[in-house]
Amino acid sequence: MNKMTVENVEVNSKKVVVRVDFNVPVNKGQVTNDKRIRAALPTIEYLTGQGARVILISHLGRPKGEFRPEMSLKPCAAVLEKMLGRPVQFVENCVGEIAEQAVETMQDGQVILLENLRFHDGETKNDSEFAASLAGLGQLYVNDAFGTAHRAHASTVGICQYIQPCVAGYLMQKEIQYLGNVVQNAERPFVAIIGGAKISGKMDVMANLLGKVDNLLIGGAMAFTFLKARSINVGRSMIEEDKISLAARLIESWPEKIALPVDCVVTDKLDPAEQVLGALETVRVEAIGPSQIGVDIGPETIALFSGILEGARTVVWNGPMGVFEIDAAAEGTMAVARMLADITGRGAVTVIGGGDSAAAAEKAKVADRLSHVSTGGGASLAFLEGKRLPAIEALTDLGT
Ligand code: 3PG
Repeated sequence: MNKMTVENVEVNSKKVVVRVDFNVPVNKGQVTNDKRIRAALPTIEYLTGQGARVILISHLGRPKGEFRPEMSLKPCAAVLEKMLGRPVQFVENCVGEIAEQAVETMQDGQVILLENLRFHDGETKNDSEFAASLAGLGQLYVNDAFGTAHRAHASTVGICQYIQPCVAGYLMQKEIQYLGNVVQNAERPFVAIIGGAKISGKMDVMANLLGKVDNLLIGGAMAFTFLKARSINVGRSMIEEDKISLAARLIESWPEKIALPVDCVVTDKLDPAEQVLGALETVRVEAIGPSQIGVDIGPETIALFSGILEGARTVVWNGPMGVFEIDAAAEGTMAVARMLADITGRGAVTVIGGGDSAAAAEKAKVADRLSHVSTGGGASLAFLEGKRLPAIEALTDLGT
């Protein structure tokens, strides 16, 4: 990475504006998954340890420029306070007099968290006045919000017009290092696993990765569109009609790289929202009945995929193999997660591209046995597509 990092700048006694991604799930005022807050700790602890005055800014949810109490960042301040073991002052606005006063009275090593950036529509509009107000709070800007790096917003891109230098935090560096390694110089054999419900949104990721990987394993509901493209009847399994020809083209272009399920777990009844499944049966994919819906990969597919993963030196995974939120349809996803933990133990580099697969790795209790679990959903997908992320581009180049 040719960008400046927190270690390239003097931060002692400086007011440092730190963009974090505390876009965490909150239910009735309680943070229900604190992974993203925990992931920002190395940067925050480094800065406080160096005597910086740390001004944290983040978004939470999509409040569309309005104050929405259920999207307040206040619950995150309490969680962070516990993790850091030091007070974190919560400030009820991210710009204006309240914010300016709070910053003015800060001491070295103090941490404050400002209210949700997206309560102002200037944030997502990348409004220059709003960006300048944020910049005016500090003397230096750190971006540690990898999860938001694909958004060109005021706090991620616009702000860099008004404050210099703009440097990367530790989480940002780690994400770029692991995901960059995957897209640029992965050790071979290099295997990608792509799953989840829809091909749309992951088509560009697959196209980009197919040029680089030795194998692409496809599971989840999207596999049924690929099977349909091979003229296999998939019953009532979820397919995207308008993506069948695209799937056929990919199979045709990379027949030796793409591995599809050979068997699957099917049911007659599925309501993921209600966690309802009918009776389950395992069938070869050619034998899926007209009323059946595929909900997981079957044991033969697990064996097929495991055989390929066994010798892999680099693996990137995005998207579950089935409806893993329901235990009865989770085995394929859990088996892949466990397999990745095993090969990581034998020296392979394994990278999870955020979102559902990160949740699956946690469910399988292997998240801490993988090389890297990205905190980015959309951002990691954009990275795997080979796109340049605007918030990374906006950081100050090394040597300037
Ligand atoms: C995410 O959760 O992927 C990031 O925080 C970005 O959120 P957004 O999709 O609402 O911009």
